[in-house]
Amino acid sequence: MVVDTPVIQTESLTKSYGSRVAVNRLSLTVEAKQVHGFLGPNGAGKTTTIKMLVGLLRPDSGSLKILGMNAAGDKPKIRERIGYMPELPKFPKHLTGEELLDVYGRMYNIPRETRKQRIPELLKMVGLAERGKDRIGKYSKGMQQRIGIAQALINDPELVILDEPSIGLDPVGMVEVRDMVKGIVKGGQTVFFSSHLLAEVQQVCDHVTIINNGNMLFTGTLEEVSQKAGPNRRLVIEVQKPSDAILQALKALPFATVDSSNSTYTLTLKTKDDVRADVSRAVSGAGGVILRMEEQGGGLEDAFMNLVGKEAQ
Ligand SMILES: Nc1ncnc2c1ncn2[C@@H]1O[C@H](COP(=O)(O)OP(=O)(O)OP(=O)(O)O)[C@@H](O)[C@H]1O
Ligand SMILES: [Mg+2]
Repeated sequence: MVVDTPVIQTESLTKSYGSRVAVNRLSLTVEAKQVHGFLGPNGAGKTTTIKMLVGLLRPDSGSLKILGMNAAGDKPKIRERIGYMPELPKFPKHLTGEELLDVYGRMYNIPRETRKQRIPELLKMVGLAERGKDRIGKYSKGMQQRIGIAQALINDPELVILDEPSIGLDPVGMVEVRDMVKGIVKGGQTVFFSSHLLAEVQQVCDHVTIINNGNMLFTGTLEEVSQKAGPNRRLVIEVQKPSDAILQALKALPFATVDSSNSTYTLTLKTKDDVRADVSRAVSGAGGVILRMEEQGGGLEDAFMNLVGKEAQ
């Protein structure tokens, strides 16, 4: 049986700045073709981790393998096969977008013909097709982010690492970044990107790692993280005609606490099970008719707040 080598594998990776531990014994595995979100509040240790992954910072301790290669030994070989967009990238202002991509392409020894073909493709992909001949000094913040993403893809990397690709973008730009990430994934690449935007991670990623104060709080699939949502999952039901009998029937359910207002009942669930059928039976049994039933909470945001909040206690 062939077992795929993880694309990123760290064991107990640790980095301190002076007495401040920025990343604490991080053991992270990212398998091929995952879209892996690296989520954490400001100062959590995301950039520090990413810098270690791409070889810009040396870990104090722990081990690190990228594409099966030991990151301490095979650095140039690793760099050939990964793409990286730093946090808030700054590029030389006098170069045009096309020239910048060409410089990066030459660094990777990409043949001229390939560069000529790939550069317009990339500019188009990041929405800069019309601006490739403009100097970067004239680019807006969002356009600099976009050229940063294009730059990270110039060598057709197997692993793309993006540090906060949506920072500084307007809502439209954020949606476009999501689409770009989805576009990268279609090419079969693995994407690891940091973000503090829960919605972005929820919409784009299949896996997520949550970090806070340098500590990993969670790593797993999006479904698994929802299990960590804690007692915030709610079921909101709207009935045709509220009555005391319905309220009593709902209060009798062992798996929820009930709040009522007008024709709406909000059940805060103590269980992770799907209890919609039980709720429906309870309401009908009390002579009620459900017009709407909606699950709220229980998503990544709840899980995140729950995990980060617990750590703060
Ligand atoms: N060069 C540095 N020198 C000293 N301390 C640093 C340095 N870089 C980061 N830190 C500290 O390390 C911790 C982690 O920072 P890091 O930049 O990795 O966080 P982050 O998760 O990327 O945050 P953000 O969301 O704000 O980008 C913070 O406490 C930060 O102050
Ligand atoms: Mg950062």
